Amino acid sequence: MAECVGGIATSHVPALGGAIAKGLKEDPYWRPFFDGFKSVHAWLAAKRPDAVVVIYNDHGLNFFLDKMPTFAVGAAPVYANADEGWGLPVQTPYQGAPELSWRLIERLVADEFDITTCQEMLVDHALTVPVQMLWPAGDPPPVIPVAVNTVQHPLPSAARCLKLGRSIGRFIAEEAGAKRILVLATGGLSHQLDGERAGFINKPFDLEFLDNLVGHPERVGALTTHQIVEQAGTQGVELLMWAAMRGALGERARRVGQTYHIPISNTAACVLTLEPA
Ligand code: DHB
Ligand code: FE
Repeated sequence: MAECVGGIATSHVPALGGAIAKGLKEDPYWRPFFDGFKSVHAWLAAKRPDAVVVIYNDHGLNFFLDKMPTFAVGAAPVYANADEGWGLPVQTPYQGAPELSWRLIERLVADEFDITTCQEMLVDHALTVPVQMLWPAGDPPPVIPVAVNTVQHPLPSAARCLKLGRSIGRFIAEEAGAKRILVLATGGLSHQLDGERAGFINKPFDLEFLDNLVGHPERVGALTTHQIVEQAGTQGVELLMWAAMRGALGERARRVGQTYHIPISNTAACVLTLEPA
């Protein structure tokens, strides 16, 4: 039986990719944030995942307003990146795990998630930046991208994303062989990039959200989209990814590590590591 080795959630701010590209990780501004990844790298080296389910939100690179799936799962042998206009170098393509993808898709559809399957899929900064932060040597495991709509309302609810995660957890538990699978969520924490509240960050909400995510995921599942937008900002809805990751870990989870850094660009940035308990 495969094993869920744990879950990681982290912000995907493009400026972090810029800092990596410019070799600024040791710069006084960036260093405190990147230092928070050292213990995560050690944890990953010990856990040695064979594949990673990446739950992220596309920002208009692969899906645009003309066609916007609520949930989409990649089933490609390889995933290319492309220029989104952030000034980031285009990353070399990521290896997929299509057989695992199809078994995940079968589980999700059996659990009544009507997903879009993508045998060709561009991945944006929400996948490339966290993957570079977590595997700085450029050797990530094969990826299974799961994209959640946070662009075109109505969005899936937090309760629905928690259930999506539970279904991902069932897929892992059913998978044959001694595979070690990591679940990665990207986005958040609180941030708003535009409008009257541009720059909005809510530290008390973020910290309470993190505690609830670990110990009381049902409280996260009770949040409405409007409550998340009000409390965490328009783009704070990316916290839906974190709910999905938490769902995959099962009933109880143990917090291995957590950072909190404000701001990175306009965003409250964090890396959270959980293990199933
Ligand atoms: C920023 C944050 C995001 O989540 C994103 O997708 C793009 C930019 C920011 O804070 O700059
Ligand atoms: Fe984002």
